[in-house]
Amino acid sequence: MEEINKLRVYRKKDGRKESFYTRSAYPGYKGFSENTFKVKKVEYREIDPKRSKFAAAIAKGLSQTGIKEGSNVLYLGASHGYTASFISDIVGKQGFVFALDFAPGVVRDLVFVCEKRGNMAPLLEDANHPERYKGIVPMVDVVFQDVAQRDQLGVFLKNCSAFLKSGGFGLLAVKARSIDVTKKPREVFKEVKDFFDEQQDFVVVDYRELSPFEKDHAFFVVKKK
Ligand SMILES: C[S@@+](CC[C@H](N)C(=O)[O-])C[C@H]1O[C@@H](n2cnc3c(N)ncnc32)[C@H](O)[C@@H]1O
Repeated sequence: MEEINKLRVYRKKDGRKESFYTRSAYPGYKGFSENTFKVKKVEYREIDPKRSKFAAAIAKGLSQTGIKEGSNVLYLGASHGYTASFISDIVGKQGFVFALDFAPGVVRDLVFVCEKRGNMAPLLEDANHPERYKGIVPMVDVVFQDVAQRDQLGVFLKNCSAFLKSGGFGLLAVKARSIDVTKKPREVFKEVKDFFDEQQDFVVVDYRELSPFEKDHAFFVVKKK
């Protein structure tokens, strides 16, 4: 078992099989039937790259996430809270995850996850309207976005502008076909990269395509200047 690039994500190799883990910030609680095991009283939870684009990006060699112990994270598109729960492990009890989704059905499940994890709060909101949660969410170290919609970049920029500290990191899962079904995914990813390169405020620090874990998806890590 080794920590990957000081990301607070750990890799276990068993022959050719690799599996990925976080140190559980709330040991004894399993919200997603994930595998767990203990080493010297420390509990590790397995995160599945087929279920989490964040884990897929790490499995594909992502070298920086900007998420540290103690980070405050705004997570847009948290859904049932699967990946968000592992981000909650990574930031630990000194950090906090604001987990937002606009679908009442999934936020209902998210509420149960947050009840067990003191460093996570659910928000039933539309990421298109940061002004609605401006009074609740403070300035954060990381904005994480996984919403498959056409204007993914516009939503991301709006939220980074409202909530991301300078020097903070933006993590963006891009679904090419949501942006433009007529273009090849790699063309869309290049346009996204060019878009960030043209922005005064951001530098792209890492980028991974997520196949074979997620078809036609890429994961960008950008840093706000
Ligand atoms: C692919 S799922 C996210 C999966 C989750 N990130 C994970 O890894 O566990 C996308 C989620 O984005 C949410 N979503 C899409 N557009 C949104 C918006 N404008 N505001 C808030 N949530 C949105 C959907 O309801 C859905 O739950």
